[in-house]
Amino acid sequence: MSEKKETFVIFGNPVAHSKSPQMHNAGFENIDYDGVYKKHHLEDGNTIKEVFLENNYEGANITVPHKEFAYENADEVRGLANEIKAVNTYINEDGKVIAYNTDAPGFLYAIESFGEIKKVLLLGAGGTAKAISLALQQSDIDVTVLNRSEGKLSFFKEHNIKSSTWENFVPEEYDLIVNSTSAGLKDEYLPCPEEILNQVLKTACCAFDCVYGKITPFLAKAKENGLKIKDGEDMLLYQGVLAFEYFTKANTDESTIEVMRKALKDN
Ligand SMILES: NC(=O)c1ccc[n+]([C@@H]2O[C@H](COP(=O)([O-])OP(=O)(O)OC[C@H]3O[C@@H](n4cnc5c(N)ncnc54)[C@H](OP(=O)(O)O)[C@@H]3O)[C@@H](O)[C@H]2O)c1
Repeated sequence: MSEKKETFVIFGNPVAHSKSPQMHNAGFENIDYDGVYKKHHLEDGNTIKEVFLENNYEGANITVPHKEFAYENADEVRGLANEIKAVNTYINEDGKVIAYNTDAPGFLYAIESFGEIKKVLLLGAGGTAKAISLALQQSDIDVTVLNRSEGKLSFFKEHNIKSSTWENFVPEEYDLIVNSTSAGLKDEYLPCPEEILNQVLKTACCAFDCVYGKITPFLAKAKENGLKIKDGEDMLLYQGVLAFEYFTKANTDESTIEVMRKALKDN
């Protein structure tokens, strides 16, 4: 084995469940890239830059709960991540830590299979909703954020994105309904009151859930209403593919994307 093998990691807490290593290692193998991708359990997000550099990592992905810390600690933040203020990818450029957010473009790739989407209702106002709403806004897609509570809505107001709580919501007709809440991840809750959902599902054509690997109550209901549905697997795949391109400094061909997709499905 070459001593120069480049090391990549995913930082998270917890990180044991992450499928990123199997996805990236399969990609490296497919293109004969001399890299290895591991899990790095990180307790204190404030140490992320120093841990990254001390270990001579070439690149990293960052997951819950460190995306905001990773943003604050980077030497340079590129692209939409400057607005989102959270990053999921680090690259070591000659000892400087360069940061990107690939969740946002990953989401846009994932919804391409729905065809043309002009108007979106986005359920949830957490970190994922920030990334998705800015990605949609930048693509000139009309987006409204609907959240359970008021607290997180100031970000959207500052960015001229329509937002509302359940109480104040006046439904319109949307093409796509997106669940970016954690409702349905480990429970059987719907992401908003059933009356609201029934109304917006009547006119929408498509439903997307950021949760992956299961049919959530939200997706089940959308399917009952005849909508095209999609879980979050492609979003996870494409954020990974885009990070992989930063890691390897090359475009990813279809065969590598398929290998990475298959690796994600493996247990
Ligand atoms: N597929 C992918 O690649 C991918 C990538 C990133 C995230 N995700 C998934 O996206 C989801 C959100 O992640 P995040 O990082 O944005 O989380 P987060 O920052 O913790 O935000 C959670 C959001 O969910 C809402 N919420 C939680 N429980 C709810 C419930 N029972 N009913 C209605 N709303 C509820 C919260 O509302 P309040 O403000 O009222 O608390 C908040 O808006 C998670 O399921 C995560 O696994 C998937």
